[in-house]
Amino acid sequence: MKTIDLSEGYVKEPIDKAIDLEEEINRMRKEKNAVIMAHYYQTGDIQDIADFVGDSLALAQQAAKTDADIIVLCGVHFMGETAKILCPDKKVIIPDLNAGCSLADSCPADEFEKFVKARPDHTVISYVNTSAAVKALTDVVVTSSNARQIVDSFPENEKIIFGPDRNLGNYINSITGRKMLLWDGACHVHEQFSPEKILELKKQYPDALVLAHPECKKVVLILADYIGSTAALLKFAGKSSCNRFIVATESGIIHEMKKQNLEKEFIPAPPNDSTCACNDCSFMRLNTMKKLYNCLKYEQPEITVDEEIRKKAVNSIKRMLEISQKSGL
Ligand code: 13P
Ligand code: SF4
Repeated sequence: MKTIDLSEGYVKEPIDKAIDLEEEINRMRKEKNAVIMAHYYQTGDIQDIADFVGDSLALAQQAAKTDADIIVLCGVHFMGETAKILCPDKKVIIPDLNAGCSLADSCPADEFEKFVKARPDHTVISYVNTSAAVKALTDVVVTSSNARQIVDSFPENEKIIFGPDRNLGNYINSITGRKMLLWDGACHVHEQFSPEKILELKKQYPDALVLAHPECKKVVLILADYIGSTAALLKFAGKSSCNRFIVATESGIIHEMKKQNLEKEFIPAPPNDSTCACNDCSFMRLNTMKKLYNCLKYEQPEITVDEEIRKKAVNSIKRMLEISQKSGL
């Protein structure tokens, strides 16, 4: 049997130039009963071919209810893990196993465990951007779409640890009046937006509204006209009577914003460092159409989760899905 080269975290098999990637991906997904799910931060070609495009909450909700045999998760590793935790009997594959997350990496499970164990009287709320091992230490998972509702579902005097994103945690504290104890983590993409450059853009386009993801720093959030998850920003842009927006989140979302709002203009908020495309998530960008094709063809690389960890982690994700459903999300 031929061994597949996965040494670099993705299938390295050469692809015949004559192959029509889209056609083949369409054929294989039908043949294998596979569903392709993509996050809004994927490149436009991947979003366009996906069966389903959504934010982190929607991807988890879709994974929980799919009847496909294979889930191809075009996003980052923790999203694949979330799908695998919810669907242990399904095969979950991801185009490039190196697609990690700086925010998830900012919360190593062993350090988080010490932090949590030192505070046994605290409820642990973790952002979905965490490893399965961190979710196993968590009482309830949240995403940026439901963090407020989930925090609000606890009594006002509940002692809460919120991790790992300090910006989202600070934002939720500010809108709920809580004093949750925050883990000191952050996302390298959302921390990079420059308030000075956003202000310059606002001067240039006084009619533009600023849309920001709550993973951004407070100095950026105070400039925002609307703060929300990727799905919420998309919805707001569609409903708003404004025709121009400055978008302070990963630039992949602009693909769907433009698709749904042909007449509107979306300007990506610039990062501090103009020498790099810091508003692109380098992890999300590791996935390509070629890797997606090979991943579907060879059903590799596969996401696996240790069963002991999975059994603990699934409770915190199911609790999130239950509260979200009750809140109409
Ligand atoms: P949402 O998908 O919840 O908007 O989060 C954005 C993100 O950073 C995903 O990695
Ligand atoms: Fe992680 Fe940030 Fe990339 Fe989202 S944008 S996957 S939080 S590094």
